[in-house]
Amino acid sequence: MPELPAPTQEQAAHFDYLEGLRGYNYTVHVKGILNAYERGTPSGKSAPATMLEAAEVIAPTALYQFAAATQHQAQKMGWASARRSLEAHTDHLAGLLEEMPVEPIGRLVLDPALELPEYYTARDSEGLDDIHLVPGGYWGDPLVGPVYERGGALYRMAWRTGYTGSPPGALVAFAGGAPRGDYQRILDIGCSFGGLTMALRTAYPDAEEVVGIDISAAALRWAHLTAEERGLAIAFEQRDATATGYPDGSFDLISGFLLLHELGAETLDVVMAEAYRLLRPGGHIRFLDMPPYAELPPERAFLQSFDCQGNGEAFWDAFLSRDFKSLLRETGFVNVSDGPLDYDEPNYWGTAALLRTGEFRTENRWVSEADKPDA
Ligand SMILES: C[S@@+](CC[C@H](N)C(=O)[O-])C[C@H]1O[C@@H](n2cnc3c(N)ncnc32)[C@H](O)[C@@H]1O
Repeated sequence: MPELPAPTQEQAAHFDYLEGLRGYNYTVHVKGILNAYERGTPSGKSAPATMLEAAEVIAPTALYQFAAATQHQAQKMGWASARRSLEAHTDHLAGLLEEMPVEPIGRLVLDPALELPEYYTARDSEGLDDIHLVPGGYWGDPLVGPVYERGGALYRMAWRTGYTGSPPGALVAFAGGAPRGDYQRILDIGCSFGGLTMALRTAYPDAEEVVGIDISAAALRWAHLTAEERGLAIAFEQRDATATGYPDGSFDLISGFLLLHELGAETLDVVMAEAYRLLRPGGHIRFLDMPPYAELPPERAFLQSFDCQGNGEAFWDAFLSRDFKSLLRETGFVNVSDGPLDYDEPNYWGTAALLRTGEFRTENRWVSEADKPDA
């Protein structure tokens, strides 16, 4: 990854403050909410059985409202601060992104004619920029790559520890955990800045081709630059996952990380149908994303929507409420299964004991049961 300019002392202090605020919010406020909830439901009422019933108990409390507002504001400020800290370096970074490597080992194919879908570019009701509260969303700011690089450390509460997750351990575990097979052509859908794509390339060094597709040209530029710097031969291509244009059966392994919850229900249906078309018979499809609400106790499910409320996640609730495995089966996939990723998230600020436990942060994988690696 190209090195980002160091933040000034004032900017670093701002990041420290925001990370501290988020840590405090989780470990004091959210823990307080759970403690109060666990102390019991109001007399005369039975324990909430559903997420909605739990919400009726938790949502009106002052502590919840304060925690939710804090989360939302800290998130907004975090992304905006990340952007501001790069302001003075705009020309330098834009130059890097424009220049591109002279003799690349991979390739970058952009499609200026590609029409971005409405769900992607629409601004939310508050007039904020797109999903994740990132100014410009994934697509509207040429510096979105560097902004995510910097802001992501705050988001993961890894700013103070210096853990920038490169490559993130969860992705390494996921990429290497596919059922055994001869994967020659590998596709990463919604590759963004190329985190999973690079992990896949590393896990399958002998594969004929590893391809990452996304609709954001700016994200793909950063992905390409980063992969080239790391000596990883990857093809990054600007294509819409709903209609990629690749021939039927083009890929042996199709993967995606944190894509599913970024798509509305109808788009997700179409993307899965397209993935089905692209996968060669006997190939594998695997996605890493958030576990569904149905797997959680009702109060945890409600609190899991924290990021959704706090980080401008338009489709998070819809995806987590959905039975994704049924969608895969209806699409035609067989031997569908899911399960927690075999990886322990680092426990920053002690938050793993609260929400960032397996339930909250652990992603699920969908594999073909029949071909799982030997247990
Ligand atoms: C959370 S990011 C994915 C992170 C990424 N997989 C990684 O490894 O870091 C979601 C990505 O999905 C992309 N996306 C959204 N709709 C898409 C579509 N219809 N086709 C392709 N990519 C899409 C967004 O541009 C964004 O880059």
